[in-house]
Amino acid sequence: MEETQFIWMNGRMVKWNDARIHVLTHTLHYGTGVFEGIRCYDTPKGPAIFRLKDHIKRLVDSAHIMQMKLPYSQADYENACRDSVKKNAVRECYIRPLVYYGYGKMGLATTGCVVDSIVAVWPWGSYLGDEGLKNGIRAKISSYSRPTVNSSMTKSKTTGSYANSTLVKMEALNAGYEEALVLDANGFVAEASGENIFIVRSGELITPPATNALEGITRKSIMEIAANEGLRISEQTFTRDQLYIADECFITGTAAELTPVREVDDRMIGEGKVGPATKKLQAKFFDIVHGKDSRYSKWLDFVEK
Ligand SMILES: Cc1ncc(COP(=O)(O)O)c(C=O)c1O
Repeated sequence: MEETQFIWMNGRMVKWNDARIHVLTHTLHYGTGVFEGIRCYDTPKGPAIFRLKDHIKRLVDSAHIMQMKLPYSQADYENACRDSVKKNAVRECYIRPLVYYGYGKMGLATTGCVVDSIVAVWPWGSYLGDEGLKNGIRAKISSYSRPTVNSSMTKSKTTGSYANSTLVKMEALNAGYEEALVLDANGFVAEASGENIFIVRSGELITPPATNALEGITRKSIMEIAANEGLRISEQTFTRDQLYIADECFITGTAAELTPVREVDDRMIGEGKVGPATKKLQAKFFDIVHGKDSRYSKWLDFVEK
């Protein structure tokens, strides 16, 4: 990873190499932390954080689900993100707020555990590669299922839940694919390892209801953009074979942005190329995050006010 200079740690800017924790940090053992993934983009008005408030609200919600008492307010975490971008003088970066149970207590109960917070920023190019963004990726349906809604809390970005995502991702990579798509316990398509999924069939954009998936902020943005572009859009459960016969498919997420999927389980999706709806939405999305469409400036949080 590309290092920057400072990491915000419990209210102070600490040098990158000094941002360390004890090996008996609670969250390191039990996966009890909550986190976010946010992107900051360069715009004509300087760096802008995409939907910062929505991301920090989800962080607050994740903590609420985990019954974790946050030591800072929503506004404090938003400021920590802006300050971290400013202090590191980066124009485009990924932002990783993490709140975790720290050192001092072991055992599953979190009662009385200290709660620590960090915000790190670093430049991070396209998550699935420039080639993937341009021409689409090859994906595989995972042999692992998405945890059921009553086992892992699917609306919380809890660190421990990502052990499942890592199994899913590594299986796909080891088999020679770039990404994995995950079914829910009933066999319906839920999402990808760290992205939401959309298909296009007969001109209609379809995404599964977020019941078994994370309520992605990119997903919500794409749904709004699509509606404004006059595309028909619906939330519907669909099966893996409905995916195989889709005209287009793409995945959305902060890291992966809008990445086309050209093949699933060795079956071409549509013509095996990036389809017209995908292309249009991707171009719109990149215009918006780079401040080139004033209709969506409400989504940009400028670092220099
Ligand atoms: C499991 C999972 N699904 C979907 C997403 C996409 O969410 P967002 O668009 O808010 O980044 C993410 C990323 O946060 C994720 O981890």
